[in-house]
Amino acid sequence: MNADCTDSTHNDDAPYYDKQVAEHGCHGHEVLFGLMYEYVKPGETLLDIGIGTGLASFLFHKAGLRISGFDSSREMLAVCESKGFAAQLIQHDLLCVPYPYAVDSFNHVISLGVLNFFADLAPVFEETARIIRPQGIFAFSVEEQKQAQPAEYVFRVGGDPGESNGEIAVSMHRHSDGHIRELLARHGFTPLKDYEFLADRYPSEGIDVYFNAYVAQRVQNT
Ligand SMILES: C[S@@+](CC[C@H](N)C(=O)[O-])C[C@H]1O[C@@H](n2cnc3c(N)ncnc32)[C@H](O)[C@@H]1O
Repeated sequence: MNADCTDSTHNDDAPYYDKQVAEHGCHGHEVLFGLMYEYVKPGETLLDIGIGTGLASFLFHKAGLRISGFDSSREMLAVCESKGFAAQLIQHDLLCVPYPYAVDSFNHVISLGVLNFFADLAPVFEETARIIRPQGIFAFSVEEQKQAQPAEYVFRVGGDPGESNGEIAVSMHRHSDGHIRELLARHGFTPLKDYEFLADRYPSEGIDVYFNAYVAQRVQNT
């Protein structure tokens, strides 16, 4: 993370991100929207943490919500901005607190396909509890840590077999259902739904990635 909380992620693939999501048959944005749809109304505000190119929040825009988002990648934000639907986009690192929003700024907060990159989710839950309004919905995905699975692993994709050239290695973090529920309770959220789904497939690597999506409601001040 940079000292100024901005450009910590560089993403040359940003212009191709939506195409890659479609080619991989990823439907996480539709899953999250479907789980949350019953709790949102036109005219409400929604913050998307790690908004990327806006795939998830665009569906809420279509449903009449007013979208704000932040992301650490300037390239992802540029693609999102070119779609012209977000009311406010800023470059910010989710590990950098406090987030640049006032208390009770948003009706709802979402974060899809982002928290699986981080070991410590406490800053995100703490800041979300501060900026979301009472009764607001916090919906997000994590990669669930099941019994006997390590909490952290290195995901390698691309490149030539046996060669490091062109290969991307990313540290990924799993979170147990118990830990997520403890974090939600500690920050004044009640879980309403959770739903496991196949988030991504990497046939050449023989890897299927499963996410757990949570929909939780802010019920009390922390
Ligand atoms: C897999 S993409 C998901 C994008 C979007 N949420 C979606 O569902 O299409 C992960 C996003 O998290 C962003 N990201 C990664 N690290 C971040 C950080 N420290 N702070 C803010 N955003 C971050 C990346 O730039 C990228 O846009």
